[in-house]
Amino acid sequence: MDESVRHTCVVGLQFGDEGKGQLVDHLAATANVVVRFNGGANAGHTVRLGESRFALHLLPSGVITPGTTNVVAHGVALDPQQLLAEIDQLAERGISLTGRLLVSDRAHLVMPWQKAEERLLEAAAGRLGLPVIGSTGRGIGPTYAAKAHRLTAIRAGELRRLDRLAPKIAAIVTLQNALLTTLAALSGSAFEPFEVAAVLAALEPCAARLAPYLADTASWLDTALADGQTVLFEGAHSALLDVDLGTYPYVTSSACTPLGLGVGSGLRDARVDRVIGVLKAYGSRVGAGPFPSQADDLAAARLRERGQEFGTSTGRPRRCGWLDLVLAGYTARRCGVTGLAVTGLDVLSDLAEIPLVVAYDLDGQRLTTPPAEAVDLAACQPVCEMQPGWRSSLADCRDWADLPAAARAYVARLAATCGPVAYVCVGPRREQVLPLPATEEIAPRR
Ligand code: GDP
Ligand code: IMO
Ligand code: MG
Repeated sequence: MDESVRHTCVVGLQFGDEGKGQLVDHLAATANVVVRFNGGANAGHTVRLGESRFALHLLPSGVITPGTTNVVAHGVALDPQQLLAEIDQLAERGISLTGRLLVSDRAHLVMPWQKAEERLLEAAAGRLGLPVIGSTGRGIGPTYAAKAHRLTAIRAGELRRLDRLAPKIAAIVTLQNALLTTLAALSGSAFEPFEVAAVLAALEPCAARLAPYLADTASWLDTALADGQTVLFEGAHSALLDVDLGTYPYVTSSACTPLGLGVGSGLRDARVDRVIGVLKAYGSRVGAGPFPSQADDLAAARLRERGQEFGTSTGRPRRCGWLDLVLAGYTARRCGVTGLAVTGLDVLSDLAEIPLVVAYDLDGQRLTTPPAEAVDLAACQPVCEMQPGWRSSLADCRDWADLPAAARAYVARLAATCGPVAYVCVGPRREQVLPLPATEEIAPRR
């Protein structure tokens, strides 16, 4: 294996939607292989080329770049219909994935009853006074739960043998209908029981179409590395939504840091020597959960309007606020970030000064790391530092040196807490990703 090859992982450092898709698309030009290793269609990653916009949910954001092979590894919760819909949408736009997409035969399938369970469970939990997460409704939590339960889970490789899968599905449908009927009664919602014949009829064409893409992707990646290929790992969701490190229980159900790529792809994370932590220059969160740096309604509406902060998966308006350095410093350390990509700087261009959250006050104590419990995080009073704004458009900047001094100072302030900066983004398009010169040392490497 060529040890000089650099493998990279891109992860988000906040609550998702930092611009990971844009960074992966930028880096894909230098990669042979792009891998999704966690989450499922609850992710929404946007790539913009000129006026064209691609919203990817299951496919890696390397698909737009010709010459890349794209891998959906076994850690992904795979909705077969959604994957095929994305493949078709790209084909309509002239992008073929034939021979350049591999889907793990060990990936767990999202089945329709898992989406129903998610909807009914949230409704029942709400009625009973349990936390409501505000899930995307893509069935991801129940799919990973079924994976852990094992008895009712289905993996993509099973689609190769529908003769064996059909009786298993019949048994699962019986079980699920019984469980979901009870859940529906508790939630006060309607539930139409699943019919085996209909489930199989929907699955059969998917099985046929997915067959050519199925592979043992972990072994395939071993060979790719041995051949000296460069691999780019695309983290979905973000560190604050990580099932262990995030603001539990208001998180997603997968491991969203570079630590997840080993489990989710079968490669050791030690083989990745560059971790790009994507950090939006302000804050956003979609769904429920604590967000100490959330702005007041007026300021949040301005950020939402300027940043077009509406969910890529669900279209929901995102809650908006300021950059929280307590949380971002914590996640940058947990992710082992070697370089930051600071996105959305242009969104702040209309502000005379910009608040940054640098500490919390909780019960008379000053905190610089987040408390473990979501309820305590929600009670934290943010301590803000004001940074001077720049009040000029950044959209046409094409080099770090083109940025106004105040914008560079703002970035340097983030770097002081979160680590060295490798990229800044001044807009959503490909050419608005600006690599920093290697010599530009704006924060010491930790
Ligand atoms: P992801 O989930 O991290 O890939 O991010 P999303 O695609 O869900 O959301 C990020 C949104 O911000 C998308 O609409 C991007 O096109 C857009 N975006 C990315 N970087 C920038 C930037 O630097 N400035 C602005 N204004 N928008 C950006
Ligand atoms: P990307 O990859 C933003 C949020 C949901 C919800 C919680 C749990 O585009 O950054 P789930 O459907 O996983 O059960 O939802 O997590 N969430 C995201 N928010 N970006 C994402 O992904 C998200 N993935 C999940 O809104 O609050
Ligand atoms: Mg997104």
